[in-house]
Amino acid sequence: MDAGKTPADVRAPRDQLARPLADLRISVIDHCNFRCPYCMPAEMFPDDHRFLSAAERLSFDEIERLTRVFAGLGVSKLRLTGGEPLLRKDLPQLVQRLAAINGIDDLALTTNGVLLPKLAQPLRDAGLRRVSISLDTLDAEVFTRLSGGRGRLADVLAGIAAAEQAGFGSIKLNCVVMRGVNDAGVLDLVEHFRHTPHVMRFIEFMDVGTMNRWRLDKVVPSAELVARIHARWPLLALPPRRAGETARRYAFADGAGEVGFISSVSAPFCGGCTRARLSADGHLFTCLFAARGTDLLTPLRQGMDDAALAALVAKRWLGRDDRYSELRSAATAKDQKHIEMFRIGG
Ligand code: GTP
Ligand code: 5AD
Ligand code: SF4
Ligand code: SF4
Repeated sequence: MDAGKTPADVRAPRDQLARPLADLRISVIDHCNFRCPYCMPAEMFPDDHRFLSAAERLSFDEIERLTRVFAGLGVSKLRLTGGEPLLRKDLPQLVQRLAAINGIDDLALTTNGVLLPKLAQPLRDAGLRRVSISLDTLDAEVFTRLSGGRGRLADVLAGIAAAEQAGFGSIKLNCVVMRGVNDAGVLDLVEHFRHTPHVMRFIEFMDVGTMNRWRLDKVVPSAELVARIHARWPLLALPPRRAGETARRYAFADGAGEVGFISSVSAPFCGGCTRARLSADGHLFTCLFAARGTDLLTPLRQGMDDAALAALVAKRWLGRDDRYSELRSAATAKDQKHIEMFRIGG
């Protein structure tokens, strides 16, 4: 630990930009049953791609222990991600264990939705509070193409219905918008979810990973989408609910609900970023765009105790100065080696 740091810094560490550690996003598996071109393009990840083996992944015991350590450092918000988290066997059991941890008051999951018909109710019963479901288009053909030929739109719509049935009240629907690929379908998505409690969110295509052939001209700036939607259904900007929120929120002026825009390229939100990420193989990443993480799995398996693990995490957080999206330029987007998104989730 740095000289002069008090124990309070270790219990509630603040990074170099004074951001506390408040959220933890845990990737429970790196496999996915989709091959979205913006994340895991099919030509780079064939069916026989070698993902992590069960032994290489954190076990439920290890995830629970690390989560307790993070909760002790100030984390109150958890999100389970993947790859596709619903591919992890017995996930409801993990949810139940995490929901019981002192200090964790929000437990959410990000999924592509196809396995929700089977799992939404068990997950809800286990204590999952919220789900976000990826939905890039309502055009069945475009959908299949965007899933790398692996998914069917009808299955995701069935997944959304199953989540509603299970009692998930307001679901966030995430659409990554790519120019010339799915941007023509934005108004259809908005129309479909108006007059529901769910929130459609449009995400600017990001230069995460190294494989998705990101180019600035494929990004549709949120301002352009806001203008298109506003011309059809007038929008009113809503104030942020808390600092560091990813989405800018708008209400429909006619009272039909709200939409959100996640604009990491045109309007970065690093200033309030309190998110840490844990990869399925137990590495701590302090930014979505980090090149490497801090290995927690090895010390954990070598018998390091909770206090020492907490000190290791706190030390890493105290040194954190990431603000990749704010510093992004054509050069950084091209040159940097980033962790692949499916290894640390969205
Ligand atoms: P809650 O606040 O838990 O409701 O979720 P959220 O609004 O942060 O949204 P979610 O976790 O569903 O994230 C949606 C998308 O936003 C992700 O899939 C990413 O594309 C993007 N995103 C989330 N967190 C970050 C971040 O820290 N940095 C950047 N650049 N993008 C992020
Ligand atoms: N740009 C923006 N968001 C991405 N996601 C994955 N790859 C990208 C990318 N290149 C996010 C999407 C998806 C979630 C699982 O991860 O929001 O819904
Ligand atoms: Fe799978 Fe999600 Fe990545 Fe698509 S974005 S390939 S569903 S992990
Ligand atoms: Fe946080 Fe990094 Fe995203 Fe900025 S780019 S908001 S620092 S994860």
